[in-house]
Amino acid sequence: MRNTLAFDGPVILGAGLAGLTAALSATTGAAKTALVLSPTPLASGCSSAWAQGGMAAALSGDDTPELHAADTIAAGAGLCDPEAVDLLTREGPQAVRDLAALGAPFDRKADDGFVLSLEAAHSAARVARVGGDGAGAAIMAAVIAAVRATPTIEVRENARARRLLQDATGRVVGVLADVDGALVEIRSPSVILATGGVGGLYAVTTTPAQVRGEGLGLAALAGAMIADPEFVQFHPTAIDIGRDPAPLATEALRGEGAILRNADGRAFMVDYHPSKELAPRDVVARALHAERTAGRGAFLDATQAVGAHFPHEFPAVFEACMSAGIDPRRQMIPVTPAVHYHMGGVATDLDGRASLPGLYAAGECASTGVQGANRLASNSLLEAAVFGARAGRAAAAEGATGGPPVSLEPLPDLPDAALQTLRQAMSRDAGVLREAAGLARLLTQVEALEAAYGSCPTVVAARLIVDGALARRESRGGHFRSDFPATGEAVRTFVTLESAGALRRRAA
Ligand code: SIN
Repeated sequence: MRNTLAFDGPVILGAGLAGLTAALSATTGAAKTALVLSPTPLASGCSSAWAQGGMAAALSGDDTPELHAADTIAAGAGLCDPEAVDLLTREGPQAVRDLAALGAPFDRKADDGFVLSLEAAHSAARVARVGGDGAGAAIMAAVIAAVRATPTIEVRENARARRLLQDATGRVVGVLADVDGALVEIRSPSVILATGGVGGLYAVTTTPAQVRGEGLGLAALAGAMIADPEFVQFHPTAIDIGRDPAPLATEALRGEGAILRNADGRAFMVDYHPSKELAPRDVVARALHAERTAGRGAFLDATQAVGAHFPHEFPAVFEACMSAGIDPRRQMIPVTPAVHYHMGGVATDLDGRASLPGLYAAGECASTGVQGANRLASNSLLEAAVFGARAGRAAAAEGATGGPPVSLEPLPDLPDAALQTLRQAMSRDAGVLREAAGLARLLTQVEALEAAYGSCPTVVAARLIVDGALARRESRGGHFRSDFPATGEAVRTFVTLESAGALRRRAA
């Protein structure tokens, strides 16, 4: 006999900034409860807590939401939804202030204004940071404390969704979850997916291993609309010290003047873009890829720009380097592109509503339209806070509970050895550079995994990325096809699991 639970408010899958912000807003001023399911203890296993850069928002007198929106849209390479971007950038400053009011200790000036840093492709210094490179961990600590102090939010750790429950009409009516090793049927009027991105589907990633497209796969298997799955962002400067996941060397280092050099010491970005180290992230990632593939190597030299200030200005990067025997005050840091963010995700409206009644998504697993083909640095925590709050409010207002679930069977899991094989294949064939033959080989591998292990959400997420990448015969933002290097018409991808294959076949 299975345990069953019923909630009158949303069940939230994932406990990063989007999930916990959704929980707080769902329960603020509402007589509802919210249940947060997290596969790992809070503050671990989510990308938010690892974020180094900070939160971008127009917080200074010489910046405006309109300028921030223009930069976001320029980075997004033609695929941003201007309405979503407008909302993000207008609500952004208040979202940062709200987090500060919860206790997030943003770096402050003597007059109490935010210390704001410049990052690549921003036309103004607008990134609010904490302790140099500790924004994610500090913001999450404040939000977790607020969640723990809210009696109407229940948090279950060691709890993983195994399928979305749907009634005969397709409405999402809850979730089947593995909680402490036992399957529990949880009924609720709404479910919010806040499961993060797809980094763990790749061999080289800056995100926690647990973040591997599960929310995307669960939603697609339930029949939800997915947007732009092919758009994966590669951060140019993961620290290349053989660790999985790879520690990040924040872009803020380049904002401070750190230089990218090859093994001969040559500052190579001059060959690739007039903005050099501050070029858009996809351009820098491809430049590093080219230098490394040509055997010249790639290093971040912060010895002059940061030097002796490293330990207190960038403590996380400093510690990661020192743990591998590299002293970044005196030595160059070996760097490599690594999967960092997924622009694609579950398609939502501006309140996080997915295409299936009762289903919501927020944060990296959602595609609200703000990130386009290439996310602007430090817009992800901002999106999680702004749209997490909106999704929480809208999901809490759902009244309908729907009918009984039609299937109660857990979806299959991909065994670890097969996952590791998939990760290698994704990095090789759906990485910084893509082309038809490699993607076709990857598709065959994905199909073999489906045949062997069934419809595992992780494999479904990989399939969506591959189908989207094969269908998009152009290069734009994070998606670069070496066989189709030109940029074509700016059209977003909207597919279901069923239609993704048809889109790919039509494009072939
Ligand atoms: C970084 O600190 O370089 C990452 C910031 C981001 O991805 O937004």
